[in-house]
Amino acid sequence: MSLAYSPDLMARTAALYDRVKSVIPSIEWPAFAGDIDAILTLKRERDAVILAHNYQTPEIFHCVADIVGDSLALAREAMKVDAGTIVLAGVHFMAETAKLLNPAKRVLIPDPGAGCSLAASITAADVRLLRQRYPGVPVVTYVNTSAAVKAESDICCTSGNARKIVESLGAPKVIMLPDEYLAQNIAAETGVEIVTWAGHCEVHERFTARDIRQLREGHPGIVVLAHPECPPEVVGESDFTGSTAAMIDYVGRKRPARVVLVTECSMSDNVAVQHPGTEFIRPCNLCPHMKQITLPKIRHALETMQHEVTIDPAVAEPARRAVERMLEV
Ligand code: 13P
Ligand code: SF4
Repeated sequence: MSLAYSPDLMARTAALYDRVKSVIPSIEWPAFAGDIDAILTLKRERDAVILAHNYQTPEIFHCVADIVGDSLALAREAMKVDAGTIVLAGVHFMAETAKLLNPAKRVLIPDPGAGCSLAASITAADVRLLRQRYPGVPVVTYVNTSAAVKAESDICCTSGNARKIVESLGAPKVIMLPDEYLAQNIAAETGVEIVTWAGHCEVHERFTARDIRQLREGHPGIVVLAHPECPPEVVGESDFTGSTAAMIDYVGRKRPARVVLVTECSMSDNVAVQHPGTEFIRPCNLCPHMKQITLPKIRHALETMQHEVTIDPAVAEPARRAVERMLEV
């Protein structure tokens, strides 16, 4: 149950509200303050840290998370955590990756139903069939997959390192799963022949080249940054393509006057807080899976120490190797 918005609670959370006031109306803050205050106390009591993906909403991203980032950063940072418990504010494959890299720690996901259309598009049996069809061709698997699929792979990649990983193999042909558009975008960048799978991100597949042209017409001078899960024709119309972290980095380095992040909605809110001098145009595509994670569910996870992520040891061992190989590149 949330605490009433007392003068004490208001004073304790005032500095946090100051951080997000440009994206959260003051009338909404009392609905968040009690959970935020309770979560900050629970983190200390439970020896827990919160890792949050860049698509989490601003009250999570800016007010309770200890570590934020893209999939690659979250995987790397998960390995450095000292606390006994990691709460992963993101989708299930991210929590599984954190558990793979920290088998001795307790990893909690506030809603185990927070999935991903890419992870749901492929099974371990599909990967085995592809290997039979293309003997000897290395298999690169996007981290947006289950541990069982990772276990069938030679190496993992994220949107932040996909090009580097494919090039590191030195092979003329690779199987890259399951994101068809990411694979096509990487094939175009590297010239490597890539066998694809028909998986798509339900957020990024909805953007079209026409959307980008209309944005440019409606907002002269706008800089267009697109995620590589977008279809190739969208990437072709954009000024820059990169992971969520690479887009944030671009805004920080180049400080464009006007920008559109062709990706999930909440990213623009999170980045706008840090870059008040930039105008963000926001075509809004929400990830329904990322939005399953809320402050009340994070609080509940810490109160009950649920839902704990477990991975079958027979799957965990080969899946961990595929993720570790990626981190070594
Ligand atoms: P990043 O790795 O670029 O953060 O993107 C992964 C993703 O789409 C999360 O849903
Ligand atoms: Fe999966 Fe797309 Fe949602 Fe990311 S944004 S979790 S890739 S459905």
